[in-house]
Amino acid sequence: MIGKIYGTGIYAPSNIMDNHTLAQKVDTNDTWIRERTGIVRRHIIEDDTTVSMASKAAKEALETSQVRAEEVDFTLVSTISSNIILPCVACEVQKEIGAVNATCFDLNAACTGFLFAYNTAQAYIASKIFQTVLIIGAETLSGMVDWTDRNTCILFGDGAGAVVLKGEEGGLFSTVTHSSGKQGAALTCVPGGYIKMDGHAVFRFAVKEVSQCIQELLEKENLSSEDIDYFVLHQANRRIVESVAKRLETDLEKFPMNLQEYGNTSSASIPLLLNQMNRSGLLKKGNKIVMAGFGAGLSWGASLLEW
Ligand code: UT7
Repeated sequence: MIGKIYGTGIYAPSNIMDNHTLAQKVDTNDTWIRERTGIVRRHIIEDDTTVSMASKAAKEALETSQVRAEEVDFTLVSTISSNIILPCVACEVQKEIGAVNATCFDLNAACTGFLFAYNTAQAYIASKIFQTVLIIGAETLSGMVDWTDRNTCILFGDGAGAVVLKGEEGGLFSTVTHSSGKQGAALTCVPGGYIKMDGHAVFRFAVKEVSQCIQELLEKENLSSEDIDYFVLHQANRRIVESVAKRLETDLEKFPMNLQEYGNTSSASIPLLLNQMNRSGLLKKGNKIVMAGFGAGLSWGASLLEW
């Protein structure tokens, strides 16, 4: 059995902070941010929380999947920015949406979180423990950045994305994942503190390891990048996506992006992008997609799926 994506949903706060507004808070400017990152604006919570955004994205994903909340037997939330420690976000979402039959827990793998959550769901589905799975990436990074640190605050945004997976015979799933704790100092945050990042180190790591990891995955499956319709990368920096496309000698058109709209939303970035591709009609049945995540840990990975 392989989990097939039945539907997607998102929630992004309506409050938008563009680069010009941000430049009034910290010493930066729109041109620099656009040229160095591709980001134009980000959505920032006002009244929402990680839990409320996760719940709204989950409701939309269930609706578009035509799956009732009671049918969900596993809810997995990827987040590093919960507004509560206990209970976990997944249990709060369960309460909110009425997924009374679901087993619920959270996963913390930063910007690789959605990818690891997807793989976890696939493992449970393959072993026939769960069959209908709701996975959510939800982040309020606006509360974790130092708004005086232009090295980090220009990058991040808030949002949530969800997908519903149901077990089916056939389909495609394969993955290659890695972690390297010894490089962890490049991207850290202590309780109550702010995200601290060695931007150059993370940039170099992302370009090198993500390209290699995707290549590893393609070789494992005896595929070439020409066989892949879309590469859905974690949305951290336009230049990272461009560099990975170049290393894979693949047309940038196969690398959709929405970081211009949301900034880096950590584990929400891949489901936000998948939803956009899905709703815009870009995705066709049978499309082969490689999703790739990378970030704090350091951790990274790539997974192959068929739409
Ligand atoms: O989710 C995964 C986590 N994070 C990432 O993937 C981020 C990876 N890293 C990056 O995206 C980039 O390293 C950054 C966007 C963080 C920084 O971009 P950069 O091209 O590496 O810039 P830089 O740090 O090399 O700085 C270049 C110049 C410097 O000025 P001088 O020394 O050349 O005069 C900086 O002081 O740009 C200056 N600068 C800025 N200027 C305006 C740095 N940040 C800013 C800023 N606004 N926000």
